Amino acid sequence: MKPLRIGLIGCGHIAKKHLATIQKNKDLFQLTDVCDTNPEQMDVVMQDYQLNNITTHISTSSLLSNKELDVVVITTPSSLHYGMVQSALQFKKHVIVEKPLTLNLKEVDHLIQLATLKQREIFVCHQLRYRPIFQEIKNKIMHNAFGKIYSGVGLMRINRSSPYFEEATWRGTWQTDGGMLCNQGLHFIDLLCWFMGDLASIQGKIVNTRDWKETEDIATAILNYRNGSIATIYSDIVTNPSNIGYLISITAEKGTVSISGPNFNQLERFYLDGADLTETLAPLTTDTEEHSYMYQAIYKQLVKEDTTSSMISPTEARKSLECLFGIYQSSLLSKEQAIPMKQFATTDMTNMFIKGSERHD
Ligand SMILES: NC(=O)c1ccc[n+]([C@@H]2O[C@H](COP(=O)([O-])OP(=O)(O)OC[C@H]3O[C@@H](n4cnc5c(N)ncnc54)[C@H](O)[C@@H]3O)[C@@H](O)[C@H]2O)c1
Repeated sequence: MKPLRIGLIGCGHIAKKHLATIQKNKDLFQLTDVCDTNPEQMDVVMQDYQLNNITTHISTSSLLSNKELDVVVITTPSSLHYGMVQSALQFKKHVIVEKPLTLNLKEVDHLIQLATLKQREIFVCHQLRYRPIFQEIKNKIMHNAFGKIYSGVGLMRINRSSPYFEEATWRGTWQTDGGMLCNQGLHFIDLLCWFMGDLASIQGKIVNTRDWKETEDIATAILNYRNGSIATIYSDIVTNPSNIGYLISITAEKGTVSISGPNFNQLERFYLDGADLTETLAPLTTDTEEHSYMYQAIYKQLVKEDTTSSMISPTEARKSLECLFGIYQSSLLSKEQAIPMKQFATTDMTNMFIKGSERHD
């Protein structure tokens, strides 16, 4: 089978991960085009990844005009995703887009409709769903091995100080980034959503401790699920002097699983039905090749080797965005937010903080 022809738009930080993954999976994907409005940025990746015989573009439409391209990867700042995914679908390309899919629920719904109309797929990079340890947890949940899920915990305690925000001006604004939970927190929120089921309501509270940026840096939430289980979230980017990391934990009728560490690399407990599987399953945490597994799964779906529905479809991505937006809306209005939500955009939060952690009422 011939590799699919792939182009990449946005040659910044995360693009490097995609380029390295495409190179590792040359038999499945052939990179033919790259695009960035900043030619210097494009030169850097061309050199670093020794990209030869690649067509470079400084405009999205120029790249999308290449009729030979099957798939486009979008790794630009978050607020550009919607317009670029839309254009790619209009040009009949399949799309791999970085999280968040968009910063607006109505836009998500429009993209879902457009992809159906154009008969093209959108894959949203919630790559942790492909990490073997998280696959193991999900499989056990799907086969009801844990019995009734009672509760979940999601923690993120990391440090992102001013140099991080100065490096790229789109970060830390409601309009272009969407906040700390959206940028750094969306992965653990997505995992919690994937494990715990459908949400019924959310009570959230966010705080901004730094008046040189618009968005939150501390967040807490109580999540209530339709099946009666509950979860709690605590997340911050002000942990000093450096990252502690992440934690996801699930407490259930027949087991407990807890995984933590700087990169979810410490399995604290995997106890199931009277058996302690922690030592047996701990080696799975060292397999962090999830980007490759994600690209391999995308390939299989596009060539129809796998006809099951994608784990990273826009419909799935909508669920984690709804959870995130529910926390924001609940905090904005100081009341419990019912799920599902029909509409919300991160720009709704523009007046949330005047200065420091004060509310704008
Ligand atoms: N999945 C993950 O683990 C993960 C990790 C980091 C970032 N991200 C997401 O990836 C996206 C990019 O983040 P980043 O940190 O790589 O950003 P970045 O600022 O490092 O890179 C963005 C690149 O896009 C280019 N760009 C801007 N406007 C453009 C346009 N109109 N056309 C073409 N190129 C354009 C910029 O010049 C820059 O090179 C964000 O949505 C972020 O949330 C995901």
